[in-house]
Amino acid sequence: MKRILITGSSGMLGVDLCKELCVDYELIGVDIAKAISTYSYRKCDITNKQEIFQVVKKARPNVVVHAAAMTDVDGCELNPEKARRINSEGAKNAALACKAAGAALIYISTDFVFDGKKKSPYKETDKTNPISVYGDSKLKGEEAIKKAVKKHFILRTSWLYGKHGKNFVDTILAKAKGEKVLKVVDDQVGSPTYTKDLAKAIRALLDRVTKSPSHQVTCSRPRFSAPYGIYHVSNSGKVSWFDYAKEILRLAKMPAKIVPISSEELDRPASRPAMSVLDNSKFIKFTGYRMRSWQEALKEYVR
Ligand SMILES: NC(=O)c1ccc[n+]([C@@H]2O[C@H](COP(=O)([O-])OP(=O)(O)OC[C@H]3O[C@@H](n4cnc5c(N)ncnc54)[C@H](OP(=O)(O)O)[C@@H]3O)[C@@H](O)[C@H]2O)c1
Repeated sequence: MKRILITGSSGMLGVDLCKELCVDYELIGVDIAKAISTYSYRKCDITNKQEIFQVVKKARPNVVVHAAAMTDVDGCELNPEKARRINSEGAKNAALACKAAGAALIYISTDFVFDGKKKSPYKETDKTNPISVYGDSKLKGEEAIKKAVKKHFILRTSWLYGKHGKNFVDTILAKAKGEKVLKVVDDQVGSPTYTKDLAKAIRALLDRVTKSPSHQVTCSRPRFSAPYGIYHVSNSGKVSWFDYAKEILRLAKMPAKIVPISSEELDRPASRPAMSVLDNSKFIKFTGYRMRSWQEALKEYVR
């Protein structure tokens, strides 16, 4: 059984990922927060180089999935030093620990590395230009990983929601109960992605690189000839936050009044890309796994 170490294992994606992988892989969960599941767990702060080195060395994983991050986008804007420490330094520490242990690394990154000025879906080769501290700190994490560990996959995803974290869907449903009029921005377009679906996509990638006959694994170390690098993966299709909120309310059969506003009117600390749809074709070609539409995924979540 291949051994996978997951950082951020108690987070929104981490919990779904552990559930998805726990039958076919031996898991070690790592987080600063408390353990949520029954797999083997180590409490560890990724900003502490010694701690993460020791944990990875002891666990001897074939692959590390690095999902731990500071994900509060406005919080990052207000505390850039903390964002840099967790998202950039933390990623570098995880990468160097992987290199030392001979493990491959899957880094979960974000659509926020782009400025949102493109009119069509972003490809992996498109120029990055983050417009927020969060996006910049995650991009610096990508750069540190590329530099430190050859065996890396950088998976950029977008607009996550899931059962085990604070997210837009739950916020809209809660607000619809208490507020008469909901105001939602209509000038940002992206692809909402269900963490349960993203967990399946990560599994498809892991299966592809650890189980296919051409990528045989020996001992506890992988011998890959996979095309490492950047991949985009999100639920398919695109929508504005406003239309997304309307669909959430329709599926939940909640008749709340909802009005569109601009990002300027909302006036949040961090800027967000106006268009951050990701082109998934490279990921589909490599793994054979196609993510379903955001509407289908949302329907299942709301139900
Ligand atoms: N959420 C999105 O919309 C979105 C979109 C695109 C990409 N992503 C990326 O996807 C990944 C997973 O996101 P998510 O929404 O599942 O995040 P999340 O729910 O915030 O989970 C991240 C986990 O990392 C932990 N963590 C924070 N600082 C740590 C540290 N110093 N050492 C160890 N663990 C630490 C967090 O603990 P605390 O909760 O105690 O801080 C949390 O349990 C992240 O890398 C994120 O950048 C997210």
